[in-house]
Amino acid sequence: MTNHIPVIAIDGPSASGKGTVAQIVADKLGFSYLDSGALYRVVAFATHQKNISWHDANAIAECAKALHIQFKQEKVLLDNQDISNDIRTELMGKGASQVAVHAPLRAALVDLQHSFRVSPGLVADGRDMGTVIFPDAQLKVFLTASTETRAQRRYQQLLGKGQPADYSNILLDLQERDARDKSRTSAPLVIAKDAILLETDNLGISAAVNIVLSNYQEKIDK
Ligand code: C5P
Repeated sequence: MTNHIPVIAIDGPSASGKGTVAQIVADKLGFSYLDSGALYRVVAFATHQKNISWHDANAIAECAKALHIQFKQEKVLLDNQDISNDIRTELMGKGASQVAVHAPLRAALVDLQHSFRVSPGLVADGRDMGTVIFPDAQLKVFLTASTETRAQRRYQQLLGKGQPADYSNILLDLQERDARDKSRTSAPLVIAKDAILLETDNLGISAAVNIVLSNYQEKIDK
């Protein structure tokens, strides 16, 4: 039983800054970090390589069950191969959001996600960390920003990496992904009723980190 191990669940839409905030919070507390979106991206990547359709729910789940996924020093390994960059493309982001609608896949990834709950604690980021995977999390945060702010961030990120970027396409793609994440029947993107809402349009990363840390401190002091 790992229920006594604290979890901070940070959910929210793409490009809300939750990954960066979650990683810093985990570092500051000495907690493990789960990037659950990376798992869906790995599944999109692996199924794409095997020519499995992103609409074939059962084949995707079967494929996922057989995958050997590891996170090592900020690298994502599939069968011991570093695929960290391969899963960060726009295509794999889109693929991840398509495979993520399938309930059999979501069920196949539950135990793996639970296995990240190790002492002294876990910071988990995703869409359903506080609602489905860790409903007993000590602190739940929903981090968001307007679609325009998020598209602008993604655009700058891609330019920074020297990758081709088109703002209007990014905006459309984010809108499409948000709609798919919110409307799916299995673990849709919703704000957990006991989550704190953080809007980051006018909030820097370090301010967001401090808010999360002080809320966590308050919870454990109670
Ligand atoms: O966060 P990231 O952009 O890497 O996630 C990729 C996709 O994976 C999301 O658009 C979402 O559809 C899906 N996802 C999910 N549940 C999670 C994390 C990610 O459905 N817990």
